[in-house]
Amino acid sequence: MCGIVGGVAERSITNILIEGLKRLEYRGYDSAGLALISQGQVLRERRVGKVANLEQAVLDSQVTGSLGIAHTRWATHGKPTENNAHPHISGNVAVVHNGIIENYQELKDELEALGYMFSSQTDTEVVAHLVNHALKTAPNLLVAVQQVVPQLKGAYALGIIHTDYPDELITVREGSPLVIGVGIGENFISSDQLALLPITNRFMYLEEGDIARLTRDSIEVFVNGQTVERPVKELDATVSNASKGEYKHYMLKEIYEQPEAIQQTISQALNGNALREDFLKDAELDFANIQQVQIIACGTSYHAGMIAKYWFEQLINLPCHVEIASEYRYRTPVIVNNTLYVCISQSGETADTLAALRDTQKRAAAKGLDITTMTICNVATSSMVRETNHSLLTLAGPEIGVASTKAFTTQLAALMLLVLKIGQVKNAIAATETAEIIADLWHTPKVILDTLQNDTAILRLSELFVEKNHCLFLGRGTQFPIALEGALKLKEISYIHAEGYAAGELKHGPLALVDNDMPVVILAPQDDMLDKLKSNMEEVQARGGELFVFADEHSGIPADKERQHVVYVPQVSSLLAPIVYSIPVQLLSYHVAVLRGTDVDQPRNLAKSVTVE
Ligand code: F6R
Repeated sequence: MCGIVGGVAERSITNILIEGLKRLEYRGYDSAGLALISQGQVLRERRVGKVANLEQAVLDSQVTGSLGIAHTRWATHGKPTENNAHPHISGNVAVVHNGIIENYQELKDELEALGYMFSSQTDTEVVAHLVNHALKTAPNLLVAVQQVVPQLKGAYALGIIHTDYPDELITVREGSPLVIGVGIGENFISSDQLALLPITNRFMYLEEGDIARLTRDSIEVFVNGQTVERPVKELDATVSNASKGEYKHYMLKEIYEQPEAIQQTISQALNGNALREDFLKDAELDFANIQQVQIIACGTSYHAGMIAKYWFEQLINLPCHVEIASEYRYRTPVIVNNTLYVCISQSGETADTLAALRDTQKRAAAKGLDITTMTICNVATSSMVRETNHSLLTLAGPEIGVASTKAFTTQLAALMLLVLKIGQVKNAIAATETAEIIADLWHTPKVILDTLQNDTAILRLSELFVEKNHCLFLGRGTQFPIALEGALKLKEISYIHAEGYAAGELKHGPLALVDNDMPVVILAPQDDMLDKLKSNMEEVQARGGELFVFADEHSGIPADKERQHVVYVPQVSSLLAPIVYSIPVQLLSYHVAVLRGTDVDQPRNLAKSVTVE
């Protein structure tokens, strides 16, 4: 979603802003803009479309300055037009914003009554006018912003500059991510530290409600007008692990990074074929008390949660519920004592998941209930990690492609580690079984590597999808969520309509869709459900459907049958099969999207980090 970059330096920061915006492109956007303060003026450029358009405009106009803010906009209020693109200006104030000002209409009415003219349909423009208006009485820019913030309802990260304050960048964080990049004689802000990695690896993470004033040499953070200390952390992420390298797309690179990513994730928890003594040590007392698990997540992360439900219940007999955060947060779920609430999120900033977490915490506290919260996340510094009692990191490295791949499979690996840990604490799983599963986990990166060898075969299959408009994915047991995930991947990047179903549901409706033109993808590992799945395949074929089967090499599913295309997947334990069977569905979606010429890494209308609801 919208991305912010800003900075105050001695040197010109125009290129830093443009490069920063490019590194935020993955978040999804439809227009871009920047404003710089130079010789008492606000210089602004905005363009619809890619950052490259803005870059060209900046080259043509030669705007330059050492104080500036820049933005990629993902339209919420008002279409993606140049007028709606940020920064928004009122008088000598320029503002960029990520999030939504929910009471903007009310504020707009008041401002219009005061004579302020609006040139956009955005909610953001009210902030620019409000700061401009506050400055009529406030002694300085910081105080003006401090007066405006309590009037805003909603979620927002802001970057604000003014011509009279040519060495000052004011920033606000309330419900949308924002990080300060600490330089030497220069300081920066961004929605994601990735944007600033080429210039610094030292970051200050703002808390909700923080307002900060950055100059070249100082960073002051205020809460309710009082200064507070926020530590500076050094990050070991490098620029290179956030670049495409030799790969054509980030998504492909990230698919291929999965063996290593999983290895990293499990290595933090394992010692030989046992869990490390210190793994989630702090959580042991809480785990001992829990009676059930409630998982909350969105999209792909929700699919990971669905798989974990099978594991929690089958392996350690612990009831587990899973729900989409956007639904969970708006009903009135019963908060049950001794429940472990697990948020699963690549970014740790997803608005619905975060809101569901906060609401649960608030309601549990109000009722005096004893609950434990935990985040499984890829971003150590994210809001969710900071706001839950415990966290387990997926060490996948930055995931840039909008379509989640390595974040998903590392979530699965992390969830299995969590199941084993809770099982161990509660004495709910035999040590021998734990050791066997751990041995299989260690083996998984190798099985994925072998599965990746099928890339060319899957490319060939994908050629048969290019002209299709619809597709079904079928699986049973833990492959049902993989069917959902395969369908999600295909639709989000290739724009082919796809649905995932539990294969047993076929005759309860979707079978009516099956005809000569309907490709049906089957996920067929060697497990207890294989024979039933084979019957489902017969049902499809009897109606003229064309099967695309990812099958265990020992499944006995023949490759030479008419209208049946089979890619054999190396043998894997049935428990961990969902991790491995994610790979062929990712590759299939990727190749279909490339052949259809879509924007694989930044599919239309989607954003990587969904920080507004
Ligand atoms: C799909 C995808 C999304 C995310 C969802 C939640 O490929 O990436 O469905 O999984 O937006 O995001 P996180 O995991 O950051 O909470």
